[in-house]
Amino acid sequence: MSARGGAVQTLYWTGKRLELVDQRALPQRLDYVACASAAETAQAIRDMVVRGAPAIGCAAAFGIALEARRLTEAGSAARAEALQQAFATLRASRPTAVNLFWALDRMQAALAAVAGRSGAEVAAALVVEAQSITAEDIECNRAMGRRGAALVPDGARIMTHCNAGALATAGYGTALGVVRAARDAGKRVSVIANETRPFQQGARLTAWEMVQERIPVTLVTDSMAGHLMQTGKVDLVVVGADRVAANGDVANKIGTYTLAVLAARHGLPFYVAAPCSTIDLAIASGAAIPIEERAAAEVTGFRGERWAPEGVAVANPAFDVTPAGLVSALITERGIVSAPSAAGLRALFD
Ligand code: MRU
Repeated sequence: MSARGGAVQTLYWTGKRLELVDQRALPQRLDYVACASAAETAQAIRDMVVRGAPAIGCAAAFGIALEARRLTEAGSAARAEALQQAFATLRASRPTAVNLFWALDRMQAALAAVAGRSGAEVAAALVVEAQSITAEDIECNRAMGRRGAALVPDGARIMTHCNAGALATAGYGTALGVVRAARDAGKRVSVIANETRPFQQGARLTAWEMVQERIPVTLVTDSMAGHLMQTGKVDLVVVGADRVAANGDVANKIGTYTLAVLAARHGLPFYVAAPCSTIDLAIASGAAIPIEERAAAEVTGFRGERWAPEGVAVANPAFDVTPAGLVSALITERGIVSAPSAAGLRALFD
């Protein structure tokens, strides 16, 4: 199986529709889901057709552009009202990744900049803004990768969690961008991919991306991480983020906190690679980051197969918060913040 155009493209603007790789079907099938409206895009985000903080932001931006295209013939008052409804629908799709809200804020600003223009002009401006958000994301990831690669020794065995790769972004990836850049710098690197229960982003998506590119990858279950660190089989950990609070606390896929504690116990570097669009200076600490609770069915079984007994109570928090004190460095496109602190993060925006 090969990806369209030779390399996997998470989102694809046809000029009329948004096409998304259906990440629920990987790695067995490389299917695309087409979205023609904001509501369809929000549904695709909710259902995990598209996932990963930056990819969600890009998809939502195109969701607004799609809606504006649908409304080109509407009167300006009706168009304004329908667009605000579209923003609300997309904002409600998932709560934790701040890139969603960051991208929608940018689309709101782009909309405000064309106030009073025709429906066609508004739609064209919003398409351009969504395309810019997407192109910038790839640039950020490449810049982050180059900076992060400097932290990776030759021969490093890199543990990662969830999927913070090309599939989670517009392309190249954040944590896996660091892996790719280290490989491109001539370093021999290998990846240990935690499977990432319950949605299996590590087993299905990270493993798939690495296999496609022939980067050596070993798949392990989440509960093997401590043993592998204890027996000297991991050199460093690098993960992505869904939201970084102003003090450097990091929300990322459930299980990330456990890894950070283990890395500290074993004296291993624990790096977070995230673009500045993932930093939320409006939230003082991780305690205020909303943690999504997903459906019980994701824990009681998978793809229709149920293995837990009927009647059992289930918890399914999709993310956890790693305190800044456990993060060795935050890798961003603007620079590396060692031992992240409020002052260090603020400096990125000065
Ligand atoms: O629930 P998901 O798959 O959207 O969670 C994704 C993650 O937690 C990623 O690590 C994070 O979004 C960073 S992606 C570059």
